[in-house]
Amino acid sequence: MIKVSAPGKLVIFGEHAVVYNRPCIVTAVNHRMSVSLDKRKDDKIVINAPEVDVKNYTFTINELKKDHPRQVAFVTSAIRNFFEKYKVKSGLDVSTKSEFSSKFGFGSSSAVTVCTLKALSEVFKIKMSNKELFDISYKAVLDVQKVGSGFDIASSIYGGTIYFVTGGKAIKPLSKNIPLVIGYTGIKADTVTLINMVKGKMNENKEEIEEIFDKMKEISDKAVEFVEKEDLIALGKLMNENQKLLSKLGVSTKELDNLISASLKAGVYGAKLSGAGGGDCMIALTNQKEKAEKAIQKAGGIIIPVETGVEGVRIE
Ligand code: PMV
Repeated sequence: MIKVSAPGKLVIFGEHAVVYNRPCIVTAVNHRMSVSLDKRKDDKIVINAPEVDVKNYTFTINELKKDHPRQVAFVTSAIRNFFEKYKVKSGLDVSTKSEFSSKFGFGSSSAVTVCTLKALSEVFKIKMSNKELFDISYKAVLDVQKVGSGFDIASSIYGGTIYFVTGGKAIKPLSKNIPLVIGYTGIKADTVTLINMVKGKMNENKEEIEEIFDKMKEISDKAVEFVEKEDLIALGKLMNENQKLLSKLGVSTKELDNLISASLKAGVYGAKLSGAGGGDCMIALTNQKEKAEKAIQKAGGIIIPVETGVEGVRIE
């Protein structure tokens, strides 16, 4: 039996732009997903995923190509891609465990995909570099989700804080310390719906949206230097600029705006939504965590304590 864990993530700069060939900056957080996996003697694949109410979901290897329920789709896609690429097969017992709720938008689907593929490479003794693990994980996720930049997969694999360009064209580790407070709006957002909404806007008004994304690219590029220098004042300013652009894009919400302005009034360096928008979480950059947390809570947010820049995928 092999057990693998991988971290969830938070985007600090460049969400949405990163779907359109621009960079983003993403940090891995200390809420981990884990997958335990072992071969079986028969041809059955049995999946347990208690956090999404899946108990002994069973099918045979030949049924891997079938459509499977959403709750197990990332695991089945990972297994199918692995068997096809490496020309192996076996019955399997797979069970997943999450330290975080999928509703926070921390990237449970990508983390579970990465864990499953890493565990398979261990069980079948197939050596995979991080980039090979990224490529096969990205394909497995795209098979299910159709859209996405892959930034969350890279974060799960490499950990730390990374500068990432669409599809893994660039994956560059940065320094680690970014003191963030996370406020959850209590509203679950659907990333794919938001990506498609932005796509609609891109089709209607390409020039304006491309311009927004160019500005976001500039922000992510500038932020690299300030992350390295741990210049929180400069980073905070860039976060505020990035938030203005996300509002212009139409992905912020009243609830996110409230939490963001409450934290700014409490004196944080900068604040913005993190991820696709439409709900989920906001992040605030501050060394005075308690003060910011109180202000966010008072404005109706739920604080999720996180450590950033944690270790990527690992065998437990
Ligand atoms: O909602 P999240 O945290 O999964 O972030 C989505 C970020 C996007 O840029 C909108 C999508 C992507 O795949 O890069």
